[in-house]
Amino acid sequence: MKILILGSGGREYSIALAILNEKNGHELFFMPGNGATCSLGTNLNIKDYNELAQFAKDNDIELTIVGPEAPLVDGVVDIFKEHGLTIFGPSKKAAQLEGSKVYMKNFLAKYDIPTARYIETSSIEDAFKFTDKLTAPIVVKADGLCGGKGVIIAQSHDEAKIAISEMLSGKSFGDAGLKVIVEEFLDGYELSMFAVCDGEDYILLPAAQDHKRVMDNDQGPNTGGMGAYAPTPLVDEVLYQKVRDRIIRPTLDGMKKEGAPFEGVLFIGVMVVKGEPITLEFNVRFGDPECEILMPLMTSSVSDMFYKAATNRLGEIKVEFSKQFAVGVVMASANYPYSNSTPAEIIVDDVYHEEVQKYTHISYAGVSMVDGVLYADGGRVLVCVGVGDTIKEARDRAYMRCGQVHFAGKKLRTDIAYQALFKEAK
Ligand SMILES: Nc1ncnc2c1ncn2[C@@H]1O[C@H](COP(=O)(O)OP(=O)(O)O)[C@@H](O)[C@H]1O
Ligand SMILES: [Mg+2]
Repeated sequence: MKILILGSGGREYSIALAILNEKNGHELFFMPGNGATCSLGTNLNIKDYNELAQFAKDNDIELTIVGPEAPLVDGVVDIFKEHGLTIFGPSKKAAQLEGSKVYMKNFLAKYDIPTARYIETSSIEDAFKFTDKLTAPIVVKADGLCGGKGVIIAQSHDEAKIAISEMLSGKSFGDAGLKVIVEEFLDGYELSMFAVCDGEDYILLPAAQDHKRVMDNDQGPNTGGMGAYAPTPLVDEVLYQKVRDRIIRPTLDGMKKEGAPFEGVLFIGVMVVKGEPITLEFNVRFGDPECEILMPLMTSSVSDMFYKAATNRLGEIKVEFSKQFAVGVVMASANYPYSNSTPAEIIVDDVYHEEVQKYTHISYAGVSMVDGVLYADGGRVLVCVGVGDTIKEARDRAYMRCGQVHFAGKKLRTDIAYQALFKEAK
C-alpha cells in the first residue's frame, strides 16, 4: 500500500519505521518529512492541501496519516475526504478539541466529563472575580494553539491577574489569548493516555509519561518533551477502566451528538487526583515523544490499525501490544528550548553490541541531509529508544544508544523514567 505521512518530527519517523517493519512492501511518502525520512521513502514539498490531495489521487495513495495538530486544525482531513481519499485524523470541527481550550472545556462540562473547575471568558472583570474565589496556585490558559506555552501556573492571585491581563490584551499570545480559561489547580500525577478512534470504536494504548522540563529533576522551562516511557506502572486496570468509562466513552458519544464524530488519535492529558482521573486537556494527535515509544510496543499491524480506523472499521481488528517496556530519550540541540542552534554534523557510531542492535533504535526529528551528511538542525534532534523486559532494562538500553550518537552541543536528560524506577525500587 502507498501511504502518505504528514509531518516532520520523530513522531512521524517512528510511525514510518513501524510500518516498514511490517515488511509488507508498503511505500511511504512524507510531507514535508525531514533529513532522515528521505531514507525511508519520498519527501514531498506540496504545501497546498488541495494540491497534495490531487497528488495523492494521481499516485494511488491509499492511506494518509496526519502527525501534527496544525494541518488538522486547518482542515486537511475535510479536504482529503472531499477528494474521496482515505485519511486518518479528525475533521476540522473535531480538531477543535485541541484547537480551542474553550471549546474543549465547554464540551467536557456539557457531557459531564471530569475536569478542573473553570471559567471561560474574554472579560477581565469576570476572570478576576473567579480568580478571587480560588486558592493559589491558579491556572490560566490561553484559548488557542500556543505551541505548548499558553498555560501559566500562577503562584499567587497577583501573578494570575497579570497573566490574565496580558493574555486578554493580546500582548502575550495575540489572538490565541483573546479568550482565557481560569481554573483550579489540580494536585496529582500526570499521565498521557492515547485512544485510536474511528468515530465509534476505539483502541486504548498503554499509558505513558513524558518529561516536559528541559533539565533533570524537572527543572528549567517546559519543552515539547525530553523523553517518555510506557507502559507506566502508575496505572492499573481500575484506572484504565475509569478513563474508559468516564472520559473516552462519553467523549466519543458526545462528539457524535455534536455532529463531529471523533476519528483519529485522542490524546488525553490526565491528572490523577486521589486515584481519580481528571481531564486536563485533549490533543487530537499523538504526543511526541510518546508516539516514538508506543509504536515499538505494538505487535499487530500499525498500518492496518490506522487504515481500519480511517475507514470506521476498528471493531473488526484486534490490536496487540508486547509485554515489554519502551523508554525514549530525546537528544536536543544546545540552545533548545530558548533559541535556534547552528547546524552540527551528527555522527552515529556503528553498532556491534548485539543487545544494542536488537533492542534500540533512533527516531530522527530535527535533522537535515546535505550531501549525504546528517545535520542536527536545532530543536529536538532525535530520540533514542530502548525496549526491554523491565523499565530499567529499556532505560539502560536507550542510554547505551545515546552514548553512540554525537553532535556538537547535544543535550539530554539523564533521568528519563525516574518516576517509574522510583516506584519499581520501592
Ligand atoms: N488545572 C491544572 N492543575 C495543575 N496543573 C495543570 C492544570 N492545567 C494544566 N496544568 C499543567 O500545565 C501543563 C500544560 O497544560 P495543558 O492544559 O496540557 O496545555 P498545553 O499542553 O496546551 O500547554 C499540563 O501538562 C500540566 O502539567
Ligand atoms: Mg498538554
